[in-house]
Amino acid sequence: MCESAGESEKTTPGLGAPGLSLQKRRSFLVALLGVGSVLVGGLLSVPLIRFALFPLLRRTTELEMSPVGTLNEFSRLKEPMMRTIQIEQVDGWRKAISEKAIYITKDAQGQLRVLTSVCPHLGCTVPWNKERNEFICPCHGAIYASDGTRISGPSLRGMDTLETSVRDGQLFVRFQYFRQLVADKEVIG
Ligand code: FES
Repeated sequence: MCESAGESEKTTPGLGAPGLSLQKRRSFLVALLGVGSVLVGGLLSVPLIRFALFPLLRRTTELEMSPVGTLNEFSRLKEPMMRTIQIEQVDGWRKAISEKAIYITKDAQGQLRVLTSVCPHLGCTVPWNKERNEFICPCHGAIYASDGTRISGPSLRGMDTLETSVRDGQLFVRFQYFRQLVADKEVIG
């Protein structure tokens, strides 16, 4: 009885070696599967992360050309004409449509010129004064000629011109914002 018990004790280490090796193989496979899953998961998540961060990485505001009217409407302009255009602004996931006032006028050579109504001093809306034949800003008194050229007042430059294009007889304009309180026109959005 004692001998058979002794034999049984001797065989235990002999049986344990293959068991341990199997366990190691299993651990290795589990680790391999884990690493593989992390790698595949990482690769698959790249497009998702880019998709989620897109609104943050994209430029805040991107404005398309807005229609102003036909060229015929402005062919006999004698003084600046105010128009309201619709602009679509994209801010992250948010899309907003707003209205902006612009002036269609002519330069010294009689060419059409489109001005933003935003005063380059501190951003007030500049109205056209028919009696005075000038733009006069109600906030701090800046005065501009009919083509937007600065005449007097605290503004360091004239009214800002907007980029235009003509397609099929239609005038289009790109509304933009410009830095205030500086002498040179600088787009900020
Ligand atoms: Fe127009 Fe100051 S905002 S003069």
